[in-house]
Amino acid sequence: MKLDRLLAKHDSLGRGRAREAILAGRVAVEGAITRRLDHPVDRFKRVELDGRPLRQSARRLHLMLNKPVGILSATSDPVHRTVIDLIDDPDRHTLHLVGRLDRSTTGLVLLTNDGNWSKPLMAPETKVPKVYLVETRDPIPASAIEAFAAGFHFHTEDLTTLPAALEILGEHQARLTLHEGRYHQIKRMFHRIGNRVVKLHRESIGGISLPPDLGPGEWRMLTEEEVGCGSPRL
Ligand code: URA
Repeated sequence: MKLDRLLAKHDSLGRGRAREAILAGRVAVEGAITRRLDHPVDRFKRVELDGRPLRQSARRLHLMLNKPVGILSATSDPVHRTVIDLIDDPDRHTLHLVGRLDRSTTGLVLLTNDGNWSKPLMAPETKVPKVYLVETRDPIPASAIEAFAAGFHFHTEDLTTLPAALEILGEHQARLTLHEGRYHQIKRMFHRIGNRVVKLHRESIGGISLPPDLGPGEWRMLTEEEVGCGSPRL
């Protein structure tokens, strides 16, 4: 939103008087006087008129959680416990998920109340890499590497999956890097080679990795550096 529009709504000031106040240097954004009528503001920005805060600015939240098995990647559910139920922050209900995991999948989930931050992380065109550890029922053949790189045609959506990097770690274990997130994608890909996923764990999203000291069900705020990893340059 533009500053003059926000100010116009305050105390029913109106557009004309709001503009006068800005041009007269009576308005500060984040502590600095601005005379720009179109200065961009959002609910996280601290705005003052004559040195007095216009409104309570919202806390900008970015956090990571290590999702355990059985917890739903949703913000509310009438039956199952959700990732939000694991977060003991007073503003947890303002959060949304930056991509989901199946209920049986464990690992890294990102949550935020900042849509400008989450949008590029989720947008298909930014192709942010997501890394998963996969355990399978049957041995993984070396030929799977090529099959995953070539992509699979999913008839339901009529699309071919983007090249995915499969690194075979053991007879039944692999690390898989995807650049998209289709419904049950990894389970469906392994199904297509006649195998079955028995365990799935997300290790990282872009430059943000689950730290080894964050146990299942635990969460923490992202560091400034990790928040920076959410930029579209990823
Ligand atoms: N692919 C799946 O099949 N499940 C997930 O939870 C994530 C990716």
